[in-house]
Amino acid sequence: MRRMAKRFGAPFTLAEVFLDQFVLAVSKKRKARFYLAVKESDHPCGAQVMGSDPDEIVPAALRLVEFGFDLIDLNFACPVPKVLARGRGGALMKDVSRALEITARVRDALPDRIPLTVKLRKSFDDAPGSADSLFKLLEGLFDLGIGAVTLHGRTVLERYTGVADWDIVRRAAEFVHVRGGKILGSGDLFSAESALRRIAESNVDGVAIARGAIGNPWIFRNINALYAGEPLPPPPTVAEQLDVIKEHWSLSEELYGFRRASTEMRKFLLKYAEFHPRKEELRMAFVKFKSAEELERIFKDYYETADEG
Ligand SMILES: Cc1cc2nc3c(=O)[nH]c(=O)nc-3n(C[C@H](O)[C@H](O)[C@H](O)COP(=O)(O)O)c2cc1C
Repeated sequence: MRRMAKRFGAPFTLAEVFLDQFVLAVSKKRKARFYLAVKESDHPCGAQVMGSDPDEIVPAALRLVEFGFDLIDLNFACPVPKVLARGRGGALMKDVSRALEITARVRDALPDRIPLTVKLRKSFDDAPGSADSLFKLLEGLFDLGIGAVTLHGRTVLERYTGVADWDIVRRAAEFVHVRGGKILGSGDLFSAESALRRIAESNVDGVAIARGAIGNPWIFRNINALYAGEPLPPPPTVAEQLDVIKEHWSLSEELYGFRRASTEMRKFLLKYAEFHPRKEELRMAFVKFKSAEELERIFKDYYETADEG
């Protein structure tokens, strides 16, 4: 997905979060090494790490730098209950002193050339005073010399429900800019227009795209076009969709082999199907295929013989 995003113009990509203990154990699990592989053409790309104990997160961050990542991002945002129960991810939104201790230790340990950034949510919950924790945290983080934050405008407990609060992102941007920092906004950016509008309205330095890129790497090309003042490119033709799906599929198969690629790729294929004129039928076909031959047949039936619709 990161490689597809890059090919379509994403200027920077971040690998999905790594648990610090996983990174430290990786030499023992040789097979897991491929998660951490950075290719020459991937740069610039960052690695995100999550943990609660500075004694584990610091060596994990250093290890990620050894693997070739250009930037380290700390995750103080993940809402998964098991993660929160261990004091990791989003739990750090309500433990400002520990969050700052982790950040200070990682910043001290990293070489100066490696930027350190942090992923935050607006707060842990909606309790009174929760916005104060965000601003306290932002102040402490930039005092410690981090390069930037990415702020997702939902509380940790909201997970993905409701709508992202971009007003808090705008207020945080004002606060961060006074301190000479940079901020990216995140949340509900499913089109190039919404990304551009949010950048303008909240005065962030950039945006992070997550769900809106799943099965839609064209979103990056579209954002770049609008940002350059050009018209929105037309949606991908059926032939272009197939080329991109095949490219994504082959990157995945190369990495994982057919069986695992089928599992990993299914969610992307279902999203790619959204662009197709016969999307309902196609989605069913993508759910069901079991072999390379069946997948090839879907490509033939739906893409190679389809009219443009
Ligand atoms: C399947 C999935 C996986 C995610 N993994 C991560 C992650 O590893 N690290 C992270 O900081 N955020 C992760 N997020 C959250 C996104 O970065 C983002 O903040 C959130 O989804 C809101 O943005 P969106 O509306 O563009 O999806 C993930 C989101 C989804 C849907």
